[in-house]
Amino acid sequence: MCGIVGYIGSQQAPAILMDGLKRLEYRGYDSAGIAVHDGAKLCSLKSKGKLVNLAGKLENTPLTGCLGIGHTRWATHGAPSDINSHPHLSSDNLIAVVHNGIIENYMEIKKELTAKGYKFISETDTETVAHLIDYYYTSGFDFREAVFKTLERIEGAYALGIICKDYPDMLIAARKNAPLIVGLGEGENYIASDIPAILNRTRKVYFLNDNEIAFVKADSVEIYNRNHEKVHHDVYEVKWDIKAAEKDGYEHFMIKEINEQPKIIRDLIEHRMPENGNRIDMDGIKLKKDDIDYISRIYIVACGTAYHAGLVGKNIIEKITRIPVIADVASEFRYKDPILDEKTLLIVVSQSGETADTLEALRIAKKNKARVLAVVNAVGSSIAREADDVFYIHAGPEISVASTKAFSAQVIAMELIACHMAMEIGRMSAEEFKAIKEEFYSIPSKVSAILQKSITEKELAKKYVQSKNVFFIGRGLDYIISKEGSLKLKEIAYLHSEAYAAGELKHGPIAMIEESSLVIAVMTQERLYEKTLSNIKEVKARGAKVIAITLNDNKLIGDEVDDVIYIPHSSWMLAPLLAVIPAQLFAYYVAYLLGTDIDQPRNLAKSVTVE
Ligand code: M6R
Repeated sequence: MCGIVGYIGSQQAPAILMDGLKRLEYRGYDSAGIAVHDGAKLCSLKSKGKLVNLAGKLENTPLTGCLGIGHTRWATHGAPSDINSHPHLSSDNLIAVVHNGIIENYMEIKKELTAKGYKFISETDTETVAHLIDYYYTSGFDFREAVFKTLERIEGAYALGIICKDYPDMLIAARKNAPLIVGLGEGENYIASDIPAILNRTRKVYFLNDNEIAFVKADSVEIYNRNHEKVHHDVYEVKWDIKAAEKDGYEHFMIKEINEQPKIIRDLIEHRMPENGNRIDMDGIKLKKDDIDYISRIYIVACGTAYHAGLVGKNIIEKITRIPVIADVASEFRYKDPILDEKTLLIVVSQSGETADTLEALRIAKKNKARVLAVVNAVGSSIAREADDVFYIHAGPEISVASTKAFSAQVIAMELIACHMAMEIGRMSAEEFKAIKEEFYSIPSKVSAILQKSITEKELAKKYVQSKNVFFIGRGLDYIISKEGSLKLKEIAYLHSEAYAAGELKHGPIAMIEESSLVIAVMTQERLYEKTLSNIKEVKARGAKVIAITLNDNKLIGDEVDDVIYIPHSSWMLAPLLAVIPAQLFAYYVAYLLGTDIDQPRNLAKSVTVE
């Protein structure tokens, strides 16, 4: 989604803004712009398309000044165009605004301002904010008050960066339901929607809370709540290295992140299942026997890939604890009037910790007194801060829009939570735990082994790149990995792909199978081998080509399929961690051959902060 960066200090703002925007490109965008205070007036440049277009304009018309705001826009209100790009300026060039989120009551405000003589030139909701601040400012309120007044009027979600022609020493930032941080430098300060935008300049940040406003000067930052009360924030020191947000020699972030998985999995396992320990380290998360006994229902709620990790969690928790779990996508859950009370445990899963629907699901649950456990990657994110307990997956920054390493870490987290619960309620013995722990410890090297043989997926990508329809099939946990593999192929290769529970094929989808169809059968659940095999035979009989992803000791698969990707043997519970790797690699290589924009696929955004 959209990205924000702002700077105030003694250096030239345009270069800093452009560099920050470049580092936010991964979030997905379709246009960009900057506004700079040149000492006397506000100047802006905006351009549809990639940053390189904006850079071209900047080269022809250089801007100078030590205060500025920049934005990458992911269109919601109005098509991508120069005019609709941010920053939006008031007609008298007094105020410039960049905005992430959606102003829900903008039509009503626009009508009022139009009646007062304000002229709107864009189709965006954001332009309303610039004019409204201008209205209050020109009515006699000072810049700060004009912003306070505006925030009282606007409804919806926003992270805002605002500058004013008459205040060359002030940058204002405000947030509600959209992430925004203030970065602290020496004699200079920043604002940004995301840490990578400014991590090469500072590691010290404040995470703004909802309904807070920061008045940022070169040598000071003051934060206020909506009641005009000053609030204190602890400085958060970002631990991860800038290298983690760079490609480090890889051609794409996605392939870099796929290759990071053995290390991330190893670190997570060693952290949560210490070698000499005989329990899972839940880091103070309140999930003891009494807490579990008190729970009457568990929901797991998330979106996209995180939802798939949640589905793995649902299956495993149910299987090893025998506690029923409902898994749902957040955009559905929030409008279902779900049954929630203090005996409900809601587990939300989110890489970014900022996904609007997941955040809202959490808020609905909390309003109804449910307990919320968040499985999150981004430290300090909204979901992490609002949940009762957080299970951090520590996968490091995930830059590629297509989630890979976060998925694996989320799956591990769900598996660890399941094992912990099973042990607490006496459904997993110490011996069983010991055995499963050994299994966990073997996973990183098995993932490495699959990655080392990635030539197989590369070759298969070449062979099947022309496929028009791809069907992933599987049963049980294999069905979930099918869903994830299919999502990867759709989002980065733009290939039509569907995932079906293998047993469902003959209830309809098999009608679509023809000579040109490619079926990818995920087969890691040994007790279901024969069942899936019969489904493979059904599609083969109708002319489909079949690739199987299966365990290396599967004797049944033989000549039944066209190609096989073998993965190391693993227990049923951990097999998803292995089966997903070939699916990720296959999608990556197909996308590579098709020449798509792998790290920033069209129409997608890394962090979906609008409904
Ligand atoms: O940040 P989150 O984990 O909450 O994001 C959820 C989805 O938007 C995300 O997983 C999306 O489906 C990815 N593009 C999948 O690769």
